Amino acid sequence: MNNNSIPEGKTFSLSREEIDNLLKSVPAGIKEYINELEGQIRNLADIGVALSKEKDMNKLLEIILIEAKRISSADGGTLYMMTEDKRLKYEIMMTDSLGIHYGGTAPEPVPDTIYPVKLYLPDTGEPNYHNICAYAALTGKTLNIEDAYEVEGFDFTGTKGFDKRHGYRSKSFLTVPMKNHEDKIIGVLQLLNAKDLKTGEITPFSTAVEVVEALASQAAVAITNKILIKDLENLFESFIKLIASAIDEKSSYTGGHCQRVPEITMMLAEAVNNIKDGPFADIHFDDKQMYELKIAAWLHDAGKVATPEYVVDKATKLETIYDRIHTVATRFEILKRDEEIRFIKKRLKLESDSSLNEMEKKETLKKLRKGYRSRIQQLDDDLEFLKSVNIGGEFMSPDKKERVKKIAKYHWEENDKVRDFLSKDEVYNLCIVRGTLTPEERQVINDHIVVTIKMLEQLPYPKHLRNVPEYAGGHHEKLDGTGYPKGLNRDEMSIQARMMVIADIFEALTASDRPYKKGKNLSQAMRIMGFMKADTHIDADLFDIFVREKIYDKYAQKYLPPEQVDEVNV
Ligand SMILES: [Fe+2]
Ligand SMILES: [Fe+2]
Repeated sequence: MNNNSIPEGKTFSLSREEIDNLLKSVPAGIKEYINELEGQIRNLADIGVALSKEKDMNKLLEIILIEAKRISSADGGTLYMMTEDKRLKYEIMMTDSLGIHYGGTAPEPVPDTIYPVKLYLPDTGEPNYHNICAYAALTGKTLNIEDAYEVEGFDFTGTKGFDKRHGYRSKSFLTVPMKNHEDKIIGVLQLLNAKDLKTGEITPFSTAVEVVEALASQAAVAITNKILIKDLENLFESFIKLIASAIDEKSSYTGGHCQRVPEITMMLAEAVNNIKDGPFADIHFDDKQMYELKIAAWLHDAGKVATPEYVVDKATKLETIYDRIHTVATRFEILKRDEEIRFIKKRLKLESDSSLNEMEKKETLKKLRKGYRSRIQQLDDDLEFLKSVNIGGEFMSPDKKERVKKIAKYHWEENDKVRDFLSKDEVYNLCIVRGTLTPEERQVINDHIVVTIKMLEQLPYPKHLRNVPEYAGGHHEKLDGTGYPKGLNRDEMSIQARMMVIADIFEALTASDRPYKKGKNLSQAMRIMGFMKADTHIDADLFDIFVREKIYDKYAQKYLPPEQVDEVNV
C-alpha cells in the first residue's frame, strides 16, 4: 500500500461523480486495488460504529478478534488484555480449523492452565522480549512473522507444544499492540496462519497489516471508552450509595430505609416487566430505564441530609438537642427549696413570737407544716404531670393544656429576676396535641421531599437519567391528590413514581430498626396497605401486582426477621 498511498500533506476534495470519471481512465488492476481499499475503509468505519455501540465487554472483544481474523483471512487469533500488574491476560482464543473458541461469548472461558504472559521476567525484572506478545506490548511495534519455526530471537516453545498436542502447524503470526488515544498499550491482538482464500494455503500476513493495525487502535479506543464509562458509572453509583448510607447512619429513625427501598422498587419493576396481562401487559422497562429507577430509589430521601437530627429524632416534646424536661425538673427543685426556706423562716419567727403561748405556737406550726407539705406535693405532682405529657404518647385534652399553662405561670427567681416558670416555647411544645412534633417541625420533616427534588433537579443528568427527580420526588404523593409536596394525582405521576410510593410505605411499615416503634407484622402492613389501596392513596393495579406476584413475601423472606413474617390473608 505504501507505493500507492496519497502523498503526505495533500488532500483531495472530489465529488463521487468526479471520482467515478477519474476511475474510468485507471487500469483495471489498480481499479480493483482501489475498490478493495475503499471496501476496507468502509468496513473499518462499520466496525468502528459496531464497536462503539456494543455495551457488553465480552462481545466487544469478540467482535474485535473476529473482524481482525476476517480482514486478514487468519485461521486463528488471540486477544490479550493488559492487567494492572503488567501481564497480558488471554481474553479470547480462537482457531477455526481446530474448532477452538475459548472466552468471549463462548460457553467455555480460557482455561486456567493458560497463564498470562509476563511483560517482565520475575527473576531479573528484565523486559520479556523473547515473547512476541510481550515484545509488541513493550515496544508498541507490530510484529509480522512469516514462519514461527524459522524465526530467531523469539521463544515459540509454547506454540510448538500446542501444535504437537493438536496436530497443528502454527506458521505465520501477526502481533499488533492495541494502543489507545493516549498512546497507552491496553492489550495485544495476535493473528495466526493467514490463508490464501483461493488455495487454502498458509501464507504470510501481507496487505491487510495496516488495516489490522487501524482496527487494533480503533478497538483500543472503544475498549478504553468502555472501561472509562464503567469506572465513572461505578464511581457515580458508589457516591449515590454513600449519600444513602449517610442518611441511614445519620438517624436511627431512618435505619436501613434508603438501602431497602431500592430493593422493593426493583422487585416490583421486575414483576411489572414479567407481567403478560392486565393494564401493564405492554409496559416493559429496558435496562436503561431500570437503571434510572434504581438510581432514583437510592436517592429518594436524599433531602434528609438537610433535615436537622433534633427534628428527625425528636423523642419528646421538650427535646431540642437535649430533653429540656431536665431543666424544668431543676426549676421545680428551686421552687421546692424556696418553699422550704419560706417555711423555715416562718417557723423561726413563730418560735421567737412572745405573744403566743406554747399551745398556740404548736397549733400554728402544725398549720404551717401542712401548708408546706401540700405545696411540695403539688410541685411533685406537677413535675410528674409534665414528664408524662412530655413523652407525647397520649392525646392532649383541653384540660391538660390548661394545666400546662397554669404551671407556666408559676414564678421562679433566676439571677434576682422573677421569671415565668415555663417559656412560651416550652408551653407550645408541651401542648402538642399528638406525638412530639410541632406543626413547624412536621413541616421540616415533610420538607425533605422538597429538598430532595430541589437537590436532584440541580444535577446535570445524562439523557437516560433525566427522570430521576420525578421518580424520586413523588414518593409522598397520594394518588387522589392529597399527598405532598405537589398534590399530584394518579395521571400526573409516572408508573415508576407510583411504584416508589408503594416501596416507601411498605418499607416504613415493616422496618424493625427504628427506635420507639416496632416493625409491623407482614399481615398488619399488608392490611394497612389494603386500606390505602381502597382510599386511592396507592396505585391499585400496582398493588395488585405486589400482592399477586408475592413481592411482599419475597422481600419478607430476605429482609424481615422471622417473627414479623406471618400469614397474609390475600
Ligand atoms: Fe421520604
Ligand atoms: Fe423514604
